[in-house]
Amino acid sequence: MGEQALAAIILAAGQGTRMKSDLHKVLHPVAGLPMLHHLLESLSAAGAARQVVVVGARREQVEASVAPRGVAIAHQAEQLGTAHAALQARDALADFDGIAIVCFGDTPFLQPDTIRRLTDRLSAADSPRVAVLGFTPDDAKAYGRIIADASGNIAKMVEFKDASDHERGVKLCNSGVTAVRTADLWSLLDRVGNNNAAGEYYLPDIVMLAIQDGDRAVVVETDPDELIGINSRAELAEAEAIWQARRRAQAMADGASLVAPETVWFAHDTVIGRDVVIEPNVIFGPGVTIADNVVIRAFSHLEGATIASGCSVGPFARLRPGAQMQEGAKVGNFVEMKKAVLGPGAKASHLTYLGDATVGANANIGAGTITCNYDGYFKYQTVIGENAFIGSNSSLIAPVKIGRDAIVAAGSAVSRDVADGELRLVRAEQLVKPGWADRFHDAMRRKKREGK
Ligand code: UD1
Ligand code: CA
Repeated sequence: MGEQALAAIILAAGQGTRMKSDLHKVLHPVAGLPMLHHLLESLSAAGAARQVVVVGARREQVEASVAPRGVAIAHQAEQLGTAHAALQARDALADFDGIAIVCFGDTPFLQPDTIRRLTDRLSAADSPRVAVLGFTPDDAKAYGRIIADASGNIAKMVEFKDASDHERGVKLCNSGVTAVRTADLWSLLDRVGNNNAAGEYYLPDIVMLAIQDGDRAVVVETDPDELIGINSRAELAEAEAIWQARRRAQAMADGASLVAPETVWFAHDTVIGRDVVIEPNVIFGPGVTIADNVVIRAFSHLEGATIASGCSVGPFARLRPGAQMQEGAKVGNFVEMKKAVLGPGAKASHLTYLGDATVGANANIGAGTITCNYDGYFKYQTVIGENAFIGSNSSLIAPVKIGRDAIVAAGSAVSRDVADGELRLVRAEQLVKPGWADRFHDAMRRKKREGK
C-alpha cells in the first residue's frame, strides 16, 4: 500500500443507449452483482476509501444502489466529455487531499493490484505527474492511442478520431483509467478545452497539459482482460462468461470438483469449501456458503443458503434465502427450503416444502411433507423436535410444534401441537366393505351389455 490517501472518481454519465434498457447500464449485473459494484469493491480493496460516481440520466437508480456503501454521487447534466465528467466530482472531494484515480463504471474487472500499481507509480523516484493505464488488445478498434517510449514515458495521447494513420497504427491503447494527485487534478481539468474532432472535453488532455508544463506522464500496462468494457447485452453476456470461467477455475484450484464446470454458475459472493462435489447444471444465486465435504447434485438452485459439512443437496433441490443445513443434513429431489433450519443429520429426501421452519437433529421428514406457513396475510413457524418422524404426505399447519421423538402418521393434517414422544394420526376412520368392488363391476358390466 502507498502512503497517500486514495479517492476514486467513477464516470458513468454516458447514455448507455446500446443496452436498450430502462435500467442504468452500470447496474446491469455480472454474477448477480451490478457491474458498478464489482469496480467499487476492487477500488475499496485497493484502498480507495472515498468514491464518487458521476452520473447523468437515471441518477436516482445509481444513487439508490450505491447509498448503502457510502459512495457519493456527482451529477453531470450534459455529457460534454470525460474531462468535464471528472470535474463534476470536485465538490464531493473538496476536503480530500491525496491521489485520485479516474475510471469508468462500465469496466468492472479492473483488479485491486493494478489500481495500486498505477497509483504507486506516482510516488516513484522519477515523480510523474500523471499515470495512465494502458493495454495492448488484439484489436485496437477506436480506442485512444498512447504514444510512449520504451520506458513508458508518454509523448502524446491521441483520440482515434483525431489520430493520423501513423498514430492509428500504434498498438498501445488508453484504458481511460488515470491517476493524478488531487492537488493537480482540478486545475488540469479546468484547463482542458474542446477544440477537437468530437468537440468534447477529453480526459487524456490532462496528460498533454502536464507534458506542456514540462512534467513527466507515464503509462502502466495491464492485461486487456481487465479492461473489458460493457456496452451491449452481448458484451454483458461475454463479461459474465469470462467471470464465470475464472470463478470455476478458482473453485477447482481451491479443492472443489466440478464434474462439468461450464454448466455451473456462481454468484459474486459464493463461498465453497474443500472436497465439495458439484454435479452438472447447478446455479448459485447470491449469499451461498458451503462448508467442506458437501455434495450438490445436478440441477439444484441455491440462493441465500448456508450448508454445513457433510451435507447432501439434490438433485433438483431448491434452497431459498434463509435455508440453513447443519452438519450431515440431507435434502433430496424436489425439496424446497426457505427460512428454514434443518438440524444435524436431519433428512428431507423427497418432494417437500420447508418454509419458516426449524427441524431438530436427526428428524426424518417424509415424502410430500408440506409446512403450511402462509394464510395469505402472515407467515407462521413450524418447529419440529429432534428425532421426530413425519410420515409421508403430511401437512403441518403453522403455527405448530412437533415434539422430540414424536411420530406424525402418514397423511396427517396437523394443526395442533404434538407433545414429545406422542403419536399423532389425523385421518378419517376407514370404511371397509369386502367384495363391494367385485359386485359393483359385475352390475355395471351387465348394465352396459344390456344397452341400458
Ligand atoms: C474513452 C477515452 C479513450 C479510451 C476509451 C477506453 C476519452 C476522451 N477517451 O473513449 O481514450 O481509449 O475511453 O474505453 O476519454 N462519460 C461521462 N460523461 C461524459 C462522457 C463520458 O460520464 O460526458 C463516461 C461514460 O459513461 C463512460 C466513460 O466516461 O463510462 C467513457 O466514455 P466513452 O464515451 O465511452 O469514451 P470513449 O469514446 O470510449
Ligand atoms: Ca467507451
